[in-house]
Amino acid sequence: MQPKLPKHIAIVMDGNGRWAKQRHLPRMAGHYEGLKTVKRVVRACAEANIEVLTLFAFSSENWQRPLPEVKGLMGLFLSALQNEVEELHKNNIQMRIVGDCSRFSPELLNSITKAQQLTANNTGLKLIIAADYGGRWDIVQAARKFAQQVEQGKTTADTLTQELFASLLEMADLPEPDLFIRTSGERRISNFMLWQLAYTEFYFTDIFWPDVDSKILADALSFYASRQRRFGHTGEQIEQLANA
Ligand code: IPE
Ligand code: IPE
Ligand code: MG
Repeated sequence: MQPKLPKHIAIVMDGNGRWAKQRHLPRMAGHYEGLKTVKRVVRACAEANIEVLTLFAFSSENWQRPLPEVKGLMGLFLSALQNEVEELHKNNIQMRIVGDCSRFSPELLNSITKAQQLTANNTGLKLIIAADYGGRWDIVQAARKFAQQVEQGKTTADTLTQELFASLLEMADLPEPDLFIRTSGERRISNFMLWQLAYTEFYFTDIFWPDVDSKILADALSFYASRQRRFGHTGEQIEQLANA
């Protein structure tokens, strides 16, 4: 049977800066407004019984932005963790941060640990925040883990398969994204989940992230439902499988 509802939605939340610029506001105003959208989308995904929602919040490359914006984003991340985690917990949402995180402040790291511990046993929506994340970083950290196993004599290079490699990636315990959404009219991956997006369906909207509402999520879900996912098979093979 063709799954009609995605298990895992991965979103590149883009357009906060342009949303603010249009209104002659500082870029941070767009990021604050974007946080409101995060709350709306998390709620909508939980209500729609989506299993996993991954949100790209800060990329490995975003450190290159002007320092005041980087600091502003770190502050916003910290206050969001401090203010919103109770609400997530009440709604049975499990939250996890994925990314390098080695450049985060001790205070931020502490809040991340607390939030993850508090929500670890929740059984509802799994909310993954990709922060200081890059698809290339993920692949390299997996390669490093494997190389270490070889170095320690625990395994040999010829044991490496796609499945084994995938098991070393962050989020290895989660299904790969079925649906990718990017807002703001950009049509690129920007170093998001490079390995895991191999067979994901891509949905783009010109709307800036702060303007995203549940209608856009509904549009993305109906786009997804209309796709035939073939994974290299023919359309006829997929139809036969669905009718079997
Ligand atoms: C996305 O919005 C949020 C982050 C990357 C943190 P942008 O800040 O990239 O917004 P634009 O692309 O400049 O409009
Ligand atoms: C990607 O958006 C990263 C996040 C949404 C966190 P960017 O706005 O940084 O991507 P580019 O630079 O336009 O490709
Ligand atoms: Mg952007």
